[in-house]
This record gives sequence, structure tokens and C-alpha cells, in this order.
Amino acid sequence: MQIEYRPEEYKNIKCDQLVFPIFKDDRIDSSLLRDLNSTTNGLLKSVLASKEFIPELHKTCRFHSPRGLKARSLLLVGAGKKSKLTPARLREIAGTGVRIARSNVCGTIAFMIRGIQTSGLAARVATEGAIYADYESDIYKTRDTEKRDLKQFLLLFGRRTSGKEVEENINRGIAVGEATNFARTLVNEPSNILTPKKFAETALESGSKVGLAVRVMEREEMEELGMNALLAVGRGSEEPPKMVVLQTQAAVERGKKRKPLRALIGKGVTFDSGGISIKPAEKMEDMKGDMAGGAVVLGSMIALSRLKTREPVIGLIPLVENMPSGNATKPGDVVRSYLGKTIEIINTDAEGRLIMADALYYARTLGAKRILDIATLTGACIIALGHVNGGMMGTDQKTIDQLRKNCLITGEGLWQLPLCDEYRKAIRSEIADIKNVGNRSGGAITAAKFLQEFTEDTPWVHLDIAGMDIDHDGRPFACKGATGFGVRTIVQMIAPL
Ligand code: BES
Ligand code: MN
Ligand code: ZN
Repeated sequence: MQIEYRPEEYKNIKCDQLVFPIFKDDRIDSSLLRDLNSTTNGLLKSVLASKEFIPELHKTCRFHSPRGLKARSLLLVGAGKKSKLTPARLREIAGTGVRIARSNVCGTIAFMIRGIQTSGLAARVATEGAIYADYESDIYKTRDTEKRDLKQFLLLFGRRTSGKEVEENINRGIAVGEATNFARTLVNEPSNILTPKKFAETALESGSKVGLAVRVMEREEMEELGMNALLAVGRGSEEPPKMVVLQTQAAVERGKKRKPLRALIGKGVTFDSGGISIKPAEKMEDMKGDMAGGAVVLGSMIALSRLKTREPVIGLIPLVENMPSGNATKPGDVVRSYLGKTIEIINTDAEGRLIMADALYYARTLGAKRILDIATLTGACIIALGHVNGGMMGTDQKTIDQLRKNCLITGEGLWQLPLCDEYRKAIRSEIADIKNVGNRSGGAITAAKFLQEFTEDTPWVHLDIAGMDIDHDGRPFACKGATGFGVRTIVQMIAPL
């Protein structure tokens, strides 16, 4: 899809569909709407008066061959109340326009940007929304797959704007939008295709292409280092574990500069059967998405590299398949982690925290001064927050506050849960330094408490994205399936604009 800024007037734009957001409290006598109304010979006034179109968020109304316009069709999209418009909402509104255009096989659409005063930011979110909406999850369908992808997405402003600023932000939107869809595809891939090996190969190929340094750690090296928590999870599977290590150029050249190194760590369980503590059959297929954190880290690192970030960042993705077998770890087994703390593995289904523990300490040995981890870690987080917000915990309160504020831009909801020391009690072990599960209460927090043991004094934020990785309902601006949740959050955190 080609995305372009068009400084011309909307009336003169030739396209298959002109998308025009209308606010609930829009005044029809404002200059822009008065103009649209008179150009279309009173169309706007009449559909609003008849209540054929009510500008509730994402409600739409489509007109073919509208009078006065060069566009083949006009799509009005409800934008809700003006005061509630955020960059995140504008992204979704652009996406709704694109989804409707797709279903009507429109190849070229023009989008009228309204409501966000910063043109650059508006162009960026609209671009992200268009790319996000122009994606389907049907990667293995061989029938009924008409090519409905958009050819052109044109951005219009009702006022004069700096073309340079808009174009720069379109490029940023493209990098982030494509990285998000890349992460979505990895999550949508079934586990028979996307094994730890295939994930690592994908990282090598796609990472090197954009200038990241990529290395894959093999099982032998993990054994030498003593990453026994990670190895304990992988040992039930025929698929060998891997660890992807990504570095931005600034991280490779570190030493010359004094900027502190950041680490991003993403859980990469390519399938989570639960292991010997096997899961029930219902919804087990969703566990192909248990590498969503890893996919998001890879996608974010790719976007950051394309944006030529000067931040020194490393990305770590521990990759395993969690399976039961004669060789699998059993409940009650004790392992010595890479950091040296011993772990009693009570439940083999609490595997994410085990692989993350060794990756967290590995990040610190590489010199990380700040860590963010992202993982589909606990069902308990879904019980606490539903599918609306990811859970956020950690010791780096400044970053947590910033991430919370950024939600209005990214549209990725995050909510902080407490992490006080009383929760540590639940994971005390009689036989080892720590055990890998608490009781049923506060499960998202006790999981984070477990991770905290391996971060010690390094400032750290943990995002639990269980329940956010796959959307089973579909949205007006997105297909069902993987969401890529986290890519926009991470890029905004490291490269704020
Ligand atoms: N990958 C799951 C968490 C999960 C559940 C993600 C549902 C997405 C949707 C994780 O490895 C897990 O199994 N967690 C257990 C922990 C329990 C054994 C303490 C859980 O949440 O039930
Ligand atoms: Mn599990
Ligand atoms: Zn898991």
C-alpha cells in the first residue's frame, strides 16, 4: 500500500472512497462541514436530520457517486465526542475507513484528518491505523481469498500543513504499522510451522535486513552458562531451545558513548501445552500465541532499527516449546537458575517465568541498566483486567508512569498492579530459594514477584499481555486474531516524538 500526503482540496481528489470523520457534537455550520454539505447538495444535513447516520464512534454511512465530489463514494465515519478524541482514537477511525473500503473492494482511499492539531502525530497514527486495518489473519486459506488490499491511502488535511513534517511521520507510521503486522503474523503462525528454530531463523533474516546485529544462542551454550531454568522448560520437547539476541547499531558501538544500555525481553514459548501439568483441551490452541512477547520484541527492534534509533538497545527472546514427555521436567523438580538461585518447579505450566528468569539475568550480564519484559504470563492477569488492559508492574516507576501516559497515543491499554513485598511470601519454598507458583490469589502479581528475584536492583518494568495477544471478537478497524499488542508501546517508549 502506498501512503501519501495530498495538499489538494478534498473535492478534487479522485479516489474510490473519501473517508470523512464526523463528530457527535460537530456543528454543521462550521466552515468545513458547511462546505461539505453544500458541495454534496445538502446530503450531510439530510442524513443527520433523518438519523440515518448517527456519529457514534465507528458507526458509518456510505454514499455512492456523491454529487460535487470527484470521489466514487463518500464514507462518513462516526468519531464520537470531540473532547474524547485522542491520537489512539484517530488511528482507529482511519482503520474503520480502511476496513469498509476493503469490504467494498475500493483500491484507493482518501482520509480527511480532523480533530488532532499536531499534523505530524495525526499523519503518523492515521498511517498506522490504515496499515493495521489492511491486514487479514487468513494466512493459510487457499480458497476465497480475493485480493482486497488497498493500493493507495491518501492523507488530507482541511488546512495548510508542513509537507515535510507529515511525510516524515508517514514514514514512521509505516515502520511501526508494518512491524506490528509482522508481529501479528508470527503470533498467527501455528506452532508446527513456527518452532523455536523457525522463529530464530526469521529473526536472523528479518533483523539483519534492517541493520540489527542478530545472534542465536544454542542449547550447548545455555548448558555451559547454566541456564537451567530455561533448559528445564525446553527439555520435554523434540524442538531444541534457542535464544535470540538482537542489538541496535548504537548497542554494538557502545563504549564510545555513555548512554545506558536498555534491554527488551519477550517470552517466546512457541507452544504451551502446560508440560506434565498439562492444560485442559479447551482453548489450548491459543497457546500457539505464547510467543507474542517475543514477536513484539522482534517487531519493535525492527521498527527501531528502521527508524535509525541512536538508543543502545538489546532484545532477548528465549524460545522453547513446553511439552510433556518422558524427558520432561516433573512437578517437584529443583533446578539451579543462571543467576544461581534454586527454583522448585511446582507447576510445569508456570513455564514463562522460568525462561524469563534466565533471560533477565543474561540481560544484566550483558550490561543492561534498564529492563522491560513483555510476556503472555498469566491467566490471572486476564481475570484481573480482562481483554482491555495489559498488566504493568515493576521497580522503574518513572517508566511505568510514562507508559501509562503514552496509552492515549498508542491505544494499547496498560494498568499498573501493586508489587509490594507481602506478595513474595506466596512463592517461598521449603526446599529451594523460591518456587515457581503461589496459590491462586494474585497470580499476575506473584508471577511478577518471581521475575523480580532475577532483576534484583536493575530498574525493571514487566508487562503481562496474556489476553491481549489474540482478539477473538474482531473490531471495526481490525480483523480477528493476533493484535501485535506492545509494538507501539515499546517504540513510543524508546523513540518518543
Ligand atoms: N501462557 C500461560 C498464560 C496464558 C493463559 C496466556 C491464557 C494467555 C492466555 C502461562 O504459561 C500459564 O500457563 N500460566 C498459568 C500459571 C499457573 C500455573 C500459576 C496460568 O495462568 O494458569
Ligand atoms: Mn503455561
Ligand atoms: Zn505460557
